Amino acid sequence: MVDDFSSKLVFWYQKHLRELPWRNTPDPYKIWLSEIILQQTRVAQGMPYYKRFIEKYPTVEDLALASEEEVLRLWQGLGYYSRARNLHACAKAVVEKFNGKFPEDYETLQSLKGIGKYTAAAIASFAFKKPIPVVDGNVFRVLSRYFLINANIADAKNFKIFFETASSLIPQDEPDLFNQAMMDLGATICSPTNPACLMCPIAVGCEAREQGLQKQFPVKEKK
Ligand code: ADE
Repeated sequence: MVDDFSSKLVFWYQKHLRELPWRNTPDPYKIWLSEIILQQTRVAQGMPYYKRFIEKYPTVEDLALASEEEVLRLWQGLGYYSRARNLHACAKAVVEKFNGKFPEDYETLQSLKGIGKYTAAAIASFAFKKPIPVVDGNVFRVLSRYFLINANIADAKNFKIFFETASSLIPQDEPDLFNQAMMDLGATICSPTNPACLMCPIAVGCEAREQGLQKQFPVKEKK
């Protein structure tokens, strides 16, 4: 059943994937940069920023050598300026502490400024092919519906349930495709209010769809 979920999902992704510049590279610097830009920003808005940053700073060393002022200027319009400050600080730390090479380890990645669980999983899986799942709002939604997981997603201690469920599904040989597929399914098909179940590659087996409970999941209750 686990194989079924992942193989159908990845098969769908390979047919429908969105061509995005940070998806055709194993360079952890480019992957990291795209994830920081996309943290609170839509793909269409983030794209020109990503391109400008890569053009101006093709490597992490280039970014580390820039002045903070210059980095903030290039970030202008994206908001959340702490993200830009962390971006710059992280680039400097990668150069100073890790010799210009992003660490491959999930935990070590999280020791860097601005890199939390999600971004660490994205870098570890996309750049280094480690089977570590990304878990964000999209993933909460897909998994809670498919397996009818009624854990409250507003409660941080329930993160583990979703992380472990996704860990048991992620294929060892193509963790990157699985993570990208989960992101895209949540963003395009398994949407919050009107999920397109008729187009969904994993509709068969989805408990919420079978019981007509899509709108009840995920459970989100403020404490
Ligand atoms: N949002 C966050 N990370 C993303 C990625 N790698 N591709 C598309 N959208 C994203």
